Amino acid sequence: MVDRVVVTGAGGLLGSTVAKLYGDRAVAFDHASLDITDADAVHAAIEGARPDLIVHCAAMTDVDACEDDPDRAFRVNGEGSHNVASAASHIGAKVVTVSTDYVFDGTSGPYSEEAETDPIQVYGESKLAGEHAVREATERHFVVRSAWIYGHGGKNFLSKIPQLVSQEEISAVIDQFGSPTFAPDLAAAIESLARTDHFGTYHVVNTGFCSFFEFMTYGLRFLNATTRIKEVEVGSLGRPAPRPLDTRLSGSAWERAGFPPLRSWQEAAESFLRER
Ligand SMILES: NC(=O)c1ccc[n+]([C@@H]2O[C@H](COP(=O)([O-])OP(=O)(O)OC[C@H]3O[C@@H](n4cnc5c(N)ncnc54)[C@H](OP(=O)(O)O)[C@@H]3O)[C@@H](O)[C@H]2O)c1
Repeated sequence: MVDRVVVTGAGGLLGSTVAKLYGDRAVAFDHASLDITDADAVHAAIEGARPDLIVHCAAMTDVDACEDDPDRAFRVNGEGSHNVASAASHIGAKVVTVSTDYVFDGTSGPYSEEAETDPIQVYGESKLAGEHAVREATERHFVVRSAWIYGHGGKNFLSKIPQLVSQEEISAVIDQFGSPTFAPDLAAAIESLARTDHFGTYHVVNTGFCSFFEFMTYGLRFLNATTRIKEVEVGSLGRPAPRPLDTRLSGSAWERAGFPPLRSWQEAAESFLRER
């Protein structure tokens, strides 16, 4: 039974979605109200709230900013996750930590939960450090790896489809493949997982996969936009951090534990675009 839930990073896309889902049961901390790199503050906040569950969504998520400032990336994504999980352990709470497809190098997707990790940029390395820190701090953990999360209020490219309809032309990457995942679908999956004691590592994404180009094309055509979509290769964008090209995730552990696959990315995208 989960009566009270602490949500970290509750000002972000997934954290705000999770906090909304739990409603009155959520004690939601955004960045301003709780900096996860401050160990004393994290322990005080979590001991004060005494939750049964912590859904840890706070992270430094700007992949290129992580490349430019590795110290900060490891402080937030690595040590910050350790602070949250050790506070959870101290009061016996379960913890869900949200991780990423970027822990893989992208050369041999689809990846199962057991596949070897080998991140190729600082963001993925720091998120992997966070996974390890959580596993070491408490047995009562769920590491939930997701990918390409979008939704209402998101700052990323995928979340912005509705705002792109008025543009004449946009560019979209053709050579990066993954599973776009609608934040409310992921939040609901986290909620059902966290009701159980099936601790461990899970891949949770909407079913199927596509390139960014295919996703943008699907979304803009669904909205009847006439926007031209220029095909670009990710390497041509000159970004500081390298991107893994094929991070399709398969949720074999998720299905073995008896959880149903999430709906397809196309159905989820249509829900998002209808609700906009
Ligand atoms: N978005 C994706 O495509 C994606 C894919 C796979 C996994 N994930 C993972 O999913 C989780 C949620 O991501 P999201 O998409 O919701 O990202 P988001 O919108 O950027 O949310 C992350 C939140 O964490 C906050 N934060 C940053 N540093 C913090 C600190 N030191 N203390 C407390 N809060 C801090 C941010 O606040 P500020 O904005 O003030 O910095 C932001 O509100 C993250 O763990 C991310 O790594 C995301």
